[in-house]
Amino acid sequence: MASKHSVVLSIVVVFIICTVSWTVSTAQEDTYHFANEDVYGNLRRPSVVYPHNVHEEALADEDCMTCHHDQDENTGELIYTEGEEQGCKECHGDRKEGDKPALREAFHGSCTICHRNMIKKKEQKSGPTTCGGCHQIK
Ligand code: HEC
Ligand code: HEC
Ligand code: HEC
Ligand code: HEC
Repeated sequence: MASKHSVVLSIVVVFIICTVSWTVSTAQEDTYHFANEDVYGNLRRPSVVYPHNVHEEALADEDCMTCHHDQDENTGELIYTEGEEQGCKECHGDRKEGDKPALREAFHGSCTICHRNMIKKKEQKSGPTTCGGCHQIK
């Protein structure tokens, strides 16, 4: 009897672990806290909070491709593949490589440029454009 129970229990435990890791590996977090010291060596500015959920709502008309891309192996072009979104530092490192900007420039190129463009286009909502607006968390 006891062994039958432990078999059932093991199956349940394995099932729970699989479900949890599946959820963790496919979903984005509501809020990111960027402090990629492993890439920069040390941080020269306070770290940055990025509310993914606020952006998803505010940018509901835009594609995920606005921020996420992958590189097509054959053409070298940037493409978007649903379900293949990755952390930016998986590809962008501490230095520029050819056309691929370093991580800091990749973030600024995405975050700051969009906020600035939206202000230029007089959109109702935009995000911070000053250093301290994003680099807040000490
Ligand atoms: C305004 C920019 C922006 C938009 C639009 C956006 N994302 Fe993201 N997303 C990010 C950033 C920035 C991260 C964090 C990347 C990092 O950790 O380096 C992220 C992280 C993720 C991750 C986790 C990746 C990982 O493995 O760490 C997933 C999944 C994801 N986004 C899916 C989506 C989907 C699906 C959409 C479209 C519905 C979307 N995102 C739209 C900016 C965006
Ligand atoms: C799978 C690898 C990969 C991932 C993941 C990736 N990038 Fe890139 N990114 C590249 C490559 C390669 C280029 C250069 C492409 C070119 O211009 O030929 C690039 C270019 C860029 C550029 C400059 C060109 C442009 O589109 O404006 C920005 C900005 C950028 N990435 C931001 C990001 C951000 C932000 C993230 C995370 C949300 C991210 N990247 C994730 C590979 C990647
Ligand atoms: C494609 C355009 C776009 C990109 C890319 C983008 N943002 Fe934003 N951001 C917005 C808009 C629009 C808002 C206003 C949202 C609102 O008020 O509902 C915003 C708001 C914000 C806010 C204020 C949030 C709040 O709760 O008031 C912060 C902080 C922010 N963005 C940080 C970032 C960071 C960090 C990145 C890069 C990782 C980034 N944004 C990339 C468009 C963008
Ligand atoms: C729209 C948001 C935003 C604005 C505005 C912004 N940054 Fe950043 N910055 C980021 C994000 C996101 C990162 C990536 C942080 C990480 O990877 O840990 C970053 C990274 C950096 C880094 C590398 C990490 C470090 O702390 O050493 C430096 C330096 C930096 N920014 C300086 C600045 C300066 C100077 C300004 C003003 C001229 C500025 N940033 C404005 C979002 C922003």
